[in-house]
Amino acid sequence: MRIVVTGAAGFIGAATAGGLRAHGHDVVGLDAMLDVAHPPGARAPEGVQQMDVRDADALRLLLADADVVSHQAAMVGHGVDAADFPGYATHNDLGTAVLLAAMAASNVQRLVLASSMVVYGEGCYRCDRHGEVVPAARRAADLRSGEFDPPCPECDRALSWCLVPETAALRPRSSYAASKVAQEHYAQAWAALQDGRCIALRYHNVYGPGMPADTPYSGVAAIFRSALRRAEAPRVYEDGGQTRDFVHVDDVVAANVAAVEDVGDHHVGLTPYNVCSGAPVTVGQMATVIAQACSGPEPVVTGEYRAADVRHVVASPEAAAKGLGFRARIGPETGLREFATAPLRGD
Ligand code: UD1
Repeated sequence: MRIVVTGAAGFIGAATAGGLRAHGHDVVGLDAMLDVAHPPGARAPEGVQQMDVRDADALRLLLADADVVSHQAAMVGHGVDAADFPGYATHNDLGTAVLLAAMAASNVQRLVLASSMVVYGEGCYRCDRHGEVVPAARRAADLRSGEFDPPCPECDRALSWCLVPETAALRPRSSYAASKVAQEHYAQAWAALQDGRCIALRYHNVYGPGMPADTPYSGVAAIFRSALRRAEAPRVYEDGGQTRDFVHVDDVVAANVAAVEDVGDHHVGLTPYNVCSGAPVTVGQMATVIAQACSGPEPVVTGEYRAADVRHVVASPEAAAKGLGFRARIGPETGLREFATAPLRGD
């Protein structure tokens, strides 16, 4: 098949384009080479056209005989402050809207969208007394005094986390998360209008070789890895007990290949899948594994916190296993150990 991959010079986009080629697909890659993701002035690598998804005319030419679009282009990260809002809105919200309009004009009806677990906000929680509850937002006073777990909104008692299914409510908490929800909603609207089919892959915390090194927009695994390379201890926020699912980029590529090959008539509208390893770890455990694997200094638990952070997000991998035949193959123990000494972009 002929696949147009947006964001094809990025960490996940480049790996996905390579994976699709290895599966015999004809890949057309494009990338805007944004400064937040690439060194200033960097040019698109060979085989990738330097082009912004907001350029509708150029897009239409590329889409003329495409079978599927794999939309990986996005401004990523948490957002440093409100000054980042327009960046997320223009690259992610507007970029996706322009892409979908161009797909409609070119009659391309299949889309795989790179979404994120950030669409869920806080994960799912259970109270011994009140069953499944939506936790109240964490209070600044609690965070300051080291109370990091969100309490039951009914009785203030401690909660335990449970696996997040794709049917969970979308509760974005950051500008980036809001833009990922918007992308899914635009894709849903496009699917309804155009009889389009979309698989949205909700990536959990992706890591692996080629991950961008420490920037304000990097994920925690790259931040820790870069600190260790400078022989500095990873700085673990909160009490280190916050839980995430770290999924290796090779597994994310496998999920993308499966989605590109599967998206079709049996999908109506937008079908979301969690893309995760199914083996959650705490951020403290992750820091320890990486530090030990490169014989670096032990992590320091700082008690600092970030206002937009969520406490525990752990997804169920079952829907992707059933619907896509996708199960991650690289567990965090093996993958994170290898990542501790893997090359990063810009390192
Ligand atoms: C991350 C990505 C998000 C992506 C999502 C799913 C970033 C910034 N965030 O969200 O874009 O969609 O995974 O793939 O890329 N922490 C520390 N020390 C640090 C930095 C962070 O302990 O130096 C902690 C944070 O407080 C948080 C956890 O690590 O509890 C994860 O942080 P991070 O990777 O930045 O964000 P996620 O919310 O997991």
